[in-house]
This record gives sequence, C-alpha cells and structure tokens, in this order.
Amino acid sequence: MLNNLPYGGESVKLIISGAGGLIGRQIVSEMEKTGAAITRLVRRTAIADRSEVCWRPESGDIDGPKLESHDCVIHLAGESISGLWTKAKKERILSSRISGTDLLVAALSALKHPPRLLICASASGYYGDQGSAILSEQDTAGIGFLARVCSEWESAAVRAQEAGINVIRLRLPMILSSRGGALAAMLPVFRLGLGGVLGSGSQYMSWCSLDEIGRIVRHCLERLDLSGPYNAGTPTPITNKVFTQALGAFLHKRTPLPVPEFLLTLLPGDMASEMLLASTRMHPVRLLESGYVFQHPDIASALRSAL
Ligand SMILES: NC(=O)c1ccc[n+]([C@@H]2O[C@H](COP(=O)([O-])OP(=O)(O)OC[C@H]3O[C@@H](n4cnc5c(N)ncnc54)[C@H](OP(=O)(O)O)[C@@H]3O)[C@@H](O)[C@H]2O)c1
Repeated sequence: MLNNLPYGGESVKLIISGAGGLIGRQIVSEMEKTGAAITRLVRRTAIADRSEVCWRPESGDIDGPKLESHDCVIHLAGESISGLWTKAKKERILSSRISGTDLLVAALSALKHPPRLLICASASGYYGDQGSAILSEQDTAGIGFLARVCSEWESAAVRAQEAGINVIRLRLPMILSSRGGALAAMLPVFRLGLGGVLGSGSQYMSWCSLDEIGRIVRHCLERLDLSGPYNAGTPTPITNKVFTQALGAFLHKRTPLPVPEFLLTLLPGDMASEMLLASTRMHPVRLLESGYVFQHPDIASALRSAL
C-alpha cells in the first residue's frame, strides 16, 4: 500500500463531495491507492458504515460535526452543465455551486480542527471566450455565464482561508473519458462517421485525460506548498478542428459533416457561444512550475488512455 502523503496519522483523511461523479470516481480510485481514508458527502441518506456524511445544499443542511478530524476536502459537487440551458437549469448550475460551497465552507470553518486544505473544482470557463490568447492563472475572469459561475464559485471557496484553511482552485478543462462528459457524448456520432467541426473549428479547447486529473489532485495533496488557482489542462490546447481530426483518425472514421454556427446558436441559453464555440487556450503555468509532469500531453495518447 502506498502512503507517501505528508500528513500525520496512518493515512490521509479526505472528504469528497461529488464523489460519485465522473471526476470524483477517478479521484477516489487514485487516492485509494495511497491508502487514504475517504468520506463521501452525499445528498441522499448517508450510510454510516460506508463512510458517508449527508448534506443537502438546496436546503442548507449538513451534518457538520461528522466533518471533524479530516486533513483535506475535495469539493466537486455541482449541477451538470450538460443538458439544455433553460433558465431554471442555469439557475441550478449557479446556485448548486455557490450555495453548496458557502454551506461547506461555513461547516468546515466552524470545526474545532478544520482541515488544512480545501481543493475546489473550477473550470476553464473561468476565462470565457478569449480567442487564441494564451491564458495563465494571472489572467482575470472572462465575460459570460460560465465565467461568472466559476468566478463566484472560487470566491466562495476562498472564504475558507479566513478559518486558516489553505485553498487550491483547480480550473478543470474538458475531461476526456469514455465514461462520461463531452467526449462520451460525441462518441456515438463520430462512430457513425457523422462527426464534424463545430462552427469554424478555429476555437481553442483546453483538455486533459481523466486519469491525469486523478494524478493532478494527488500532486496537490503531496505538496504542502501549493495554494491558489491552478490551470489543470495540458500545456497543449488544440482547436476544435484539430480535435475533430484526431478523434476521427483514432476511430478510423471520416469527419465530413461540419455543424454550422447558425444551427448551434438555436440552442437555448447561450449554450453555443459559451460551451461549443467559445475559445479558451489555457496554459498550466503554475502546475508546471510546481514540477507536475503531464503523462498524456498529446491528444493521440490521451485518446488512447480515454478510449
Ligand atoms: N467533466 C468535465 O469535463 C469538467 C470540466 C470542468 C469542470 N468540471 C467540474 O468538476 C466537477 C466534477 O465534474 P464531473 O464531470 O465529475 O461531474 P458529474 O459527473 O456531473 O458529477 C457531479 C457530482 O455533483 C453532484 N451534484 C449533481 N447535481 C448537483 C446539485 N444540483 N447540487 C449539488 N450537487 C450536485 C453529484 O453528486 P451526488 O449525487 O453524490 O451528490 C455528482 O456526482 C463539476 O463541478 C464540474 O462542473 C468538470
């Protein structure tokens, strides 16, 4: 059993929200390799002998005292951004993250022994649509709905610092996996040979394989000197056109059918301009400076790992 994490006690004690989601399951599996003791924050009734603690972010309930005596919290929970962006959906995307983070931070801050570290998910959407500009952690938040969600989500997490908790904000890119997320949604279309670029295809997308994210979180836990925002995409963002060609080549399928921009803009709630056509070329400056080495920095090897 691996146990090289720099925490006191026999093994690091973690709390994870959103542990049942795509990224949460990967982090649980990566951290279990280190012998970490994992407590899951769940929205249903908690099963005590499975190390679960109940919280209900919508109603502001959390079983706070059970959060005592943990080393670190990994906060991933939030309404999925996939699905049609109706007004109600957008409200849930925002409020699940802000009120959920407020609730968690208040509960952690009230503990006799707060954890030393909170790792809070954020997203490349923080930067909004910025064309081909290379974006480092020093760049400010962009404009638009996702930028606002990420910016308010991060601000809510940062308030944990007032209780002496170190906060890492991981700006996650599109995560490549066949088990969920954007790539899994595209696969059936590409496998039928019906894939194609979105709009002009010139928009940049930041990306990372799912197993890489598990290793990045572990890197953050192993190093005690990391703090603040970290871009968690590979140093090699690509345009939608290059991605489309790479996925087609990997699947041995042609990608003949571009989806015209005007069709995409029929989607409700700015989905097209914010998710499909927005260009975000994020560079992981601080992660590289911290010594993290990406295992799958090129799209072909990441697709092999994901698929
Ligand atoms: N996957 C990506 O490409 C990507 C990219 C950038 C950022 N992110 C962010 O990273 C986080 C984890 O992503 P993921 O792909 O693992 O997401 P996911 O598979 O959708 O899982 C999210 C988890 O959040 C909880 N959840 C769902 N709806 C919620 C709500 N209304 N209120 C509170 N909790 C809710 C669920 O946990 P329970 O049902 O157990 O409570 C779920 O397991 C998300 O916040 C996401 O926005 C993901």
